[in-house]
Amino acid sequence: MKFPSAPQAVSGLLFASTVNAAITLDLSSTHSIKNAAAQAANGMFSYYTGWRPGDVPGNLPAPYYWWEAGAMFGSLIDYWYYTGDTTFNANTTAGLLAQVGPNRDFMPPNQTKTEGNDDQAFWGMAAMSAAEVNYPNPPEDQPQWLALAQAVFNTQAPRWADGTCGGGLKWQIFAFNNGYTYKNTISNGCFFNMAARLGRYTGNQTYFDWAERMFDWTAAIGLMSNDYHFFDGTSDDINCTQINHIQWSYNAGVYLLGAAAMWNASQTNNMTGNSDVWYQRTMGILNGTSVFFKNNVMFEVACEPNGKCNVDQRSFKAYLSRWMAQTTQLAPWTTDIIMPLLQTSAQAAAKSCNPGDGNSIVCGLQWTTGSFDGSTGVGEQMSAMEVFQSNLISKVAGPLTNGTGGTSVGDPNAGSQSGQSPLQLEAVTTGDRAGAGILTTIILAGILGGSWWMVA
Ligand SMILES: *[C@@H]1O[C@H](CO)[C@@H](O)[C@H](O)[C@H]1NC(C)=O
Ligand SMILES: *[C@@H]1O[C@H](CO)[C@@H](O)[C@H](O)[C@H]1NC(C)=O
Ligand SMILES: *[C@@H]1O[C@H](CO)[C@@H](O)[C@H](O)[C@H]1NC(C)=O
Ligand SMILES: *[C@@H]1O[C@H](CO)[C@@H](O)[C@H](O)[C@H]1NC(C)=O
Ligand SMILES: *[C@@H]1O[C@H](CO)[C@@H](O)[C@H](O)[C@H]1NC(C)=O
Ligand SMILES: *[C@@H]1O[C@H](CO)[C@@H](O)[C@H](O)[C@H]1NC(C)=O
Ligand SMILES: *[C@@H]1O[C@H](CO)[C@@H](O)[C@H](O)[C@H]1NC(C)=O
Ligand SMILES: *[C@@H]1O[C@H](CO)[C@@H](O)[C@H](O)[C@H]1NC(C)=O
Repeated sequence: MKFPSAPQAVSGLLFASTVNAAITLDLSSTHSIKNAAAQAANGMFSYYTGWRPGDVPGNLPAPYYWWEAGAMFGSLIDYWYYTGDTTFNANTTAGLLAQVGPNRDFMPPNQTKTEGNDDQAFWGMAAMSAAEVNYPNPPEDQPQWLALAQAVFNTQAPRWADGTCGGGLKWQIFAFNNGYTYKNTISNGCFFNMAARLGRYTGNQTYFDWAERMFDWTAAIGLMSNDYHFFDGTSDDINCTQINHIQWSYNAGVYLLGAAAMWNASQTNNMTGNSDVWYQRTMGILNGTSVFFKNNVMFEVACEPNGKCNVDQRSFKAYLSRWMAQTTQLAPWTTDIIMPLLQTSAQAAAKSCNPGDGNSIVCGLQWTTGSFDGSTGVGEQMSAMEVFQSNLISKVAGPLTNGTGGTSVGDPNAGSQSGQSPLQLEAVTTGDRAGAGILTTIILAGILGGSWWMVA
């Protein structure tokens, strides 16, 4: 993922007020919701070129980083699950399998220069979702969804870095990449989310123990506040004594779903500790998401008002939508709070879309504006698609486990031989190190100086 210190202005704002041909969305009609999701999906998929002869399956072209392709395939698994439409399945399966890498753990050598723990985890969470919804299994000789999610977990658990800060995952996997000393919340949150869901799916206590450990660390170090707000990250260089307080919607979302999975599991076994604790945490995190809503419409509070959402950040509402919806299945008592928010947000998102080519729509970034704001891309499309289809959550079955019909084949030892990947031994050039050092200085300046990337 890209470091959040490179703001980009939203392009095309000039068109904002001149065009207002919003699409229609009738939330009382399953057909209407599916149609809107299909149109947003078509618009999103038009950015994907990996199916073309000579192109690489699984990658999105620039400016999209590798992680966002994993996130996109995850959203297309959701799309299939909500709508039953198989249009994108073959490309989704091919794209995911093309990027598993030689150790079948989503660490393809081509991505070494950009891959952090969070990037790897977005692919891993796509595989986890595939297992939970019985998305069609790959042929037997290919890696299986559950085993891929376990492989990501197995490579990440040994990266627990307790030399500083009492633990946690670093943002980066490789020391030669920028930001190696940063401990960011999304990397740690993705690990928590996956550990909780793997525990629930397999019933293996080891995953629950890691989820508990990660949650406790996040709170202890202050990446989560006492009132359940999640901040961007902190740094090894200062032993995590100060926090970068910017808030992103996907951090709240990734912990919300993990906490709901822990509560859900606490209802069927005694492996996740006191269920009242997970109830309180789930409710607290949900309450904390209010910072991402304006008049009940979802917005990216740290970058929409100032027009500085970068390419990554324009996709974050997709994940908050996705994880809020799934929370209603795991913790049904959240439904009355969550659904009205997803309804208003979907209606507002529809107003941000214009008709596109063929059976597609072009959706903008800021749903709070009531019209198309001219900002376009994979993230905008994915967010609109996820918030539309999340309104079908009551029509689909909840996430499965291996005891309730999940068919994906696991491998508790998947990927573990690459916990210390040979890639980590790759030569690090002086230039790379200097780059990382410079970035570290910038991060520290950001944390200590309270720069633009704090939420006022
Ligand atoms: C992938 O998508 C492209 C573009 O829609 C389509 O032409 C192609 O048939 C798809 N590939 C598969 C295997 O379905
Ligand atoms: C990695 O990059 C090479 C060279 O560009 C390309 O041929 C290969 O298909 C890529 N593999 C993946 C999995 O992206
Ligand atoms: C670093 O932070 C951890 C966690 O807060 C703490 O346990 C440890 O004592 C600190 N180390 C130093 C050298 O201050
Ligand atoms: C769950 O485990 C805890 C600690 O291991 C124990 O104190 C408690 O009685 C158990 N609860 C149930 C319902 O089995
Ligand atoms: C809910 O959020 C509000 C606003 O952030 C806060 O004042 C309140 O204390 C929170 N309540 C709980 C139970 O966390
Ligand atoms: C746990 O989640 C499953 C799947 O959504 C759901 O069927 C079940 O009712 C949930 N358990 C509780 C106690 O709500
Ligand atoms: C689910 O997986 C766990 C761990 O692999 C295993 O112990 C258990 O027997 C499985 N349960 C079912 C119903 O298959
Ligand atoms: C549970 O998960 C751990 C960690 O991946 C693994 O080492 C262990 O073999 C698993 N246990 C079972 C029974 O599958």
